[in-house]
Amino acid sequence: MYITYDDSLRCFHLCNDRVSYIFRLAGGRYPLHVYWGPRVRRIRDDLLTRLSPYNYNDDTFSLHETPLDVLPQECPVFGGGDMREGMLDVIHADGTRMLDLQYAAYRIEEGKAPLPGMPSARGEGAKTLVLTLRDALSALEVELHYTIWPDMDIIARHMRVTNGGSANVLIERALSACVDFEKPGLSLTTLSGAWARERQMYTRPVVPGDQGTSTCRGASSVQTSPFMALSTMGTDEACGEVFAFALCYSGSFTASVTMDQHYLTRAMLGINPFNFSWDLAPGSTFVTPEAYLCYSSEGFGGMSRQFHTLVHEHITNSKYAKTERPILCNNWEATYFGFNEEKLLALASRAKDADIDLFVLDDGWFGHRDSDNSSLGDWYDDTRKLPGGLASLSEKIHAMGLKFGLWVEPEMISPDSDLYRAHPDWCIHAGDYPRIEARNQLVLDLSRQDVRDYMVGTISDALRRGNVDYVKWDMNRNINCWGSARLDAAHQRELGHRYILGLYDMMGRIVRQFPDVLFESCAGGGGRFDLALMTMMPQAWTSDDTDAWMRCRIQYGTSLVFPPSVMGAHVSAVPNHQTHRSTPLETRAAVAMGGTFGYELDLTKLPQEEIDQIRGINARVRSMQKLLLYGTFYRLRSPFNGNDCAWMSVSEDKREAVVTHVNAQACPHTKPMPLRLAGLDPELDYVDVDSGRIYGGDELMYHGMPLRKIDQGDYLTTQVVLRAL
Ligand code: GLA
Repeated sequence: MYITYDDSLRCFHLCNDRVSYIFRLAGGRYPLHVYWGPRVRRIRDDLLTRLSPYNYNDDTFSLHETPLDVLPQECPVFGGGDMREGMLDVIHADGTRMLDLQYAAYRIEEGKAPLPGMPSARGEGAKTLVLTLRDALSALEVELHYTIWPDMDIIARHMRVTNGGSANVLIERALSACVDFEKPGLSLTTLSGAWARERQMYTRPVVPGDQGTSTCRGASSVQTSPFMALSTMGTDEACGEVFAFALCYSGSFTASVTMDQHYLTRAMLGINPFNFSWDLAPGSTFVTPEAYLCYSSEGFGGMSRQFHTLVHEHITNSKYAKTERPILCNNWEATYFGFNEEKLLALASRAKDADIDLFVLDDGWFGHRDSDNSSLGDWYDDTRKLPGGLASLSEKIHAMGLKFGLWVEPEMISPDSDLYRAHPDWCIHAGDYPRIEARNQLVLDLSRQDVRDYMVGTISDALRRGNVDYVKWDMNRNINCWGSARLDAAHQRELGHRYILGLYDMMGRIVRQFPDVLFESCAGGGGRFDLALMTMMPQAWTSDDTDAWMRCRIQYGTSLVFPPSVMGAHVSAVPNHQTHRSTPLETRAAVAMGGTFGYELDLTKLPQEEIDQIRGINARVRSMQKLLLYGTFYRLRSPFNGNDCAWMSVSEDKREAVVTHVNAQACPHTKPMPLRLAGLDPELDYVDVDSGRIYGGDELMYHGMPLRKIDQGDYLTTQVVLRAL
């Protein structure tokens, strides 16, 4: 792995054993993108001059002869030679917006410096190139940071903008990365959805003009995901080239693709410029979130395995990040708000019988919260429901031999709360305009230090009082009525980013106080499922939809970027509360094994024989949990293409694997096609641990594994554990 600068070619080359990323300085001044893909030894001079449809001579390079508008760039800015939207857009004190960013210096660092105030990947073993560009007239300085690691085909990028002048500069757009592709026939894949339908996979051809995905909801959101992938024609799970982008950010973002007049495709990613600006005072620096650029020559499967390595090796950071996780039972779908201590203890005791490790008390334990219309902000125990408070409940649960977990929603405030009555200006609101509630609640203004300090105190007290082993940190609405009582007119458009910086500060301060606690993030289901929060919380609730078939789709889409170890997945009751669909327990369990495993149903209503079945399921989960969560992950059949879905995890040494297939509707007189597996050793023989049947790794991968008959009922599962002989 190395980063080099070739002075004669004016070329920077970042490369590890598998990928190269190359850019050069046109005329020694403007960084032009040259290449991103499989490792090349070098790019020769005559290939570099192909960069433009115009005649291009580097020695006599002139913006008049070859405008930046037709060149692939590393850091395009709007308003100069380039007439396309770029990475950076500023307004100078005189109201003009031109920038002429030219190369000033570079340095190569070992590792990677953390991003101030923002989560980012850890830089062990990495190298970083920092390229400095300067606008001579305004003295604005831009640093482009590029990090490469030896163990994955991912390059991290972010930008730092420093005002070296004497007047304030208004940043109207500061994105994290831009790549200009000279490639025909690309397709764009994004993840979009809704509440209970998160991260569905959509692919379409890139056409001239603008396309992409974005959100201005103040959260990475259920509707979209800070990710996009460009793929070459015919790319599937195993073959084809993918160029993917993911952002380490939890707020409003854009991921845009624009194809221009010469079929050059510009892909950019970063904070959404809509409803954003930043007043950059002299001497100060604005830092963008970190973006990850992932190259795969092994289709979408290869891309996901790179992202999964990123998450496991460089993003998740808790003591639980690489360990087995407790099997949990959450009371939400069992009781909703209608519980008291007696009911909770009955549920916990049944959970203990079912060999569950952790009992989680969800929403409704504080203030006077009997429904979702009150008490957020009043994080003191509701002694009507819990006479001895959290402390006593937790003690009783611990005495049963269970761990105890608690739900909180620290970013919110109910208008019906003591906190709101005391501090009506603590919520986000636009002056005297109506404060429009969602789920009967308002959003706390986390841009304010006083609000954050209070919340850190009151939430930490509750966690201490409850002596908790696990926390579910929820966030149940997006932001509207944008405005902060603390920001003046010139700074109101900073609120979205300041909120997210405030969230990272507040969450970080709480999480760091409880290093032994397992944290799971949640946002009305999977509404803030992003890499940034995973640096603090190693798992996230994937969706409020616990229906097994819907979960196949949601988890399949989510797995494009995220490994099973971060996806909260629970077995719930039938008929399912979201879809009213009934699926066999075996199928619900097999699907929940695609994530961090748990239950979310009233166990007291299940007959003993089902509790015994659950004990068996839990033993199975424990016996292969590391493989399920941290194994190398392969998607085998897409629920977006047909009537079934399949995936598998393989151990690093390829000696163990677990394969799961779910068939949706039964089809009479149908012969199931063999399921071709992946990632095994073709030279090894494997035994199906449950049936004792023996197969060759080659047979399983090239011919396929037989599936259970699929005409004997809906939603049948085949789950096979394979062990090398
Ligand atoms: C959100 C979560 C659910 C549950 C409820 C409680 O919807 O996603 O799992 O915690 O809030 O109000």
